[in-house]
Order: sequence, then C-alpha cells, then structure tokens
Amino acid sequence: MAEPEAVEGTKSEVGILFVGDLVGSIGRHTLLECLPELRERLAPSFVVVNGENVAGGLGITPKVAEELFRNGIDAITLGNHAYHRREIYSYLDTKERIVRPFNYLRGQPGRGVCVVEKDGVRLGVVNLSGNLFLKAGRSAFTEVEPALRELGEVDHILVDMHAEATSEKVALGWLLDGRVTAVVGTHTHVPTADARVLPGGTAYITDVGMTGPRGGVIGVKREQAVESLVTQMPVRFETSKEDPWLMGVMVRTTKRLRADSIEQILMPRPDRPTPAG
Ligand SMILES: [Fe+2]
Ligand SMILES: [Fe+2]
Repeated sequence: MAEPEAVEGTKSEVGILFVGDLVGSIGRHTLLECLPELRERLAPSFVVVNGENVAGGLGITPKVAEELFRNGIDAITLGNHAYHRREIYSYLDTKERIVRPFNYLRGQPGRGVCVVEKDGVRLGVVNLSGNLFLKAGRSAFTEVEPALRELGEVDHILVDMHAEATSEKVALGWLLDGRVTAVVGTHTHVPTADARVLPGGTAYITDVGMTGPRGGVIGVKREQAVESLVTQMPVRFETSKEDPWLMGVMVRTTKRLRADSIEQILMPRPDRPTPAG
C-alpha cells in the first residue's frame, strides 16, 4: 500500500456506501427510510445500490430507477434479473448510471460500466456476473480486464460481482486486489461475515446481503418458498413483507484505488413492522 502512485493519489476521505439487492417495494422503502440516518451517520460521498429485484421482486423499471436517482442514488447495478421487465431495455441503453453485468453478450441491452463524478472525484462502477448457475455469455475473469480499461482515468472503482458461488467472488477479489477500491458480492441475499481490506488495499466482501424482508426466504414469503420445496410443485411467489432490513457496506478511502476500511451495515427498517406496500 506504500507504492508511490498510491501516495501521489492521496485525497481527502471518500466514502462509498454500497447497498445490496433491493427486494420489491419493501426493499425500496426500507432503503429510503434508512438513508437519512445513514447519510447523517456515515456521510457517504457516493451511494450505489443493486436494483435487480426492486420491481416486484424481479427486475427494475424506468419509473423505479428514476425514483432511486431522484432520491440521490448515484448508480444502480443489476444481475441475473436485469431483463425481467421489457420496458427497461431501451433505458439501459440510454441511461448512463445504471449497469448490467459487463460479461453478458455484447448484443444484450445496456452497458457494464459507468463513471459517476462528484466534487471532482470520479467513481467507476463495474457490474459482473458469475458464471456458475447463472447465464452470462462470457467469463467474468477475462472480461473484467476490458471493463477496467473502458473506465479510463478514475479515482475509485467499485466492482459488484453478482454471483452464486462464493469461490468465484473470493477469486475475483484476489484477482483485483490492489487494482480497484472495492469488490463487493451480491445475489445470494445473505450477508457474509468476511468483510476486510485485502493486503493490496482492496475492500472485499463475498456478499453484502439484500435490502428486504428477513422474514422470508431470500425475499419470498416463507410459506410459499417452503411449500414449493416440500411439494416440488409450482407455487406462485410473492415478496415477503416481514422484518425488512437494509444490508450493505461502507467503504472508506483516502488513496486512489485503495480502501482504508470496509464496515458492514445491517440495519432494520426504522418503522418496523411495516404497512402493506
Ligand atoms: Fe438479487
Ligand atoms: Fe441475482
């Protein structure tokens, strides 16, 4: 961490709050109700959220994305549910601050990287998809190189690795250690206890968890998920409303492309229990 370019790039502290998969309207409301307190307590310079489940539990719509941007969200990452809503396709092609996994096929809608600039600080955001049990046309491990090149000159890079396998996420953390500010995992909706700054200076966590109902099964009403597993028959899934929490991480940095710390954020929605909606 003491190499010359890192010292040369020293700036005042930058904080990046990354929030895990927003599940349904309950996830969106939980975020919006937790944000004022988090902004006051953590004073993040940037807030980035994963929004792949925000529209009714699957996908995202332009209307919901605009609501998030209106509320000061700087960038939105996605994952395997990116294309669940058709109306998002052209939005993904035209809107700069919402990204789907870079390693999808080139012909699929949207882009995989974006840059957000605030107070003279440029944050690059990269979205990648794991390859195990997920449909991603190309390898995350080879495509991350052109993704980083596409960002150009930036002060910080946040990589959201949306993956099922812990091994793929851990491996990506090591591959990028010392080259990006943070590698954060999403998709499983369950937070892991391994947040740390790797030896090269990259903040890492295998999964930040979700922002949604802990009372369900990774977001789904628990009786429906259990019935489906017990009977092995089709069951209509709805988003649970029980026990909503915000889950994320706060990454702090004072050096270009390096993190000083990563703190796990696990916060119950302030007004629990919640009304319908
Ligand atoms: Fe998700
Ligand atoms: Fe996912």
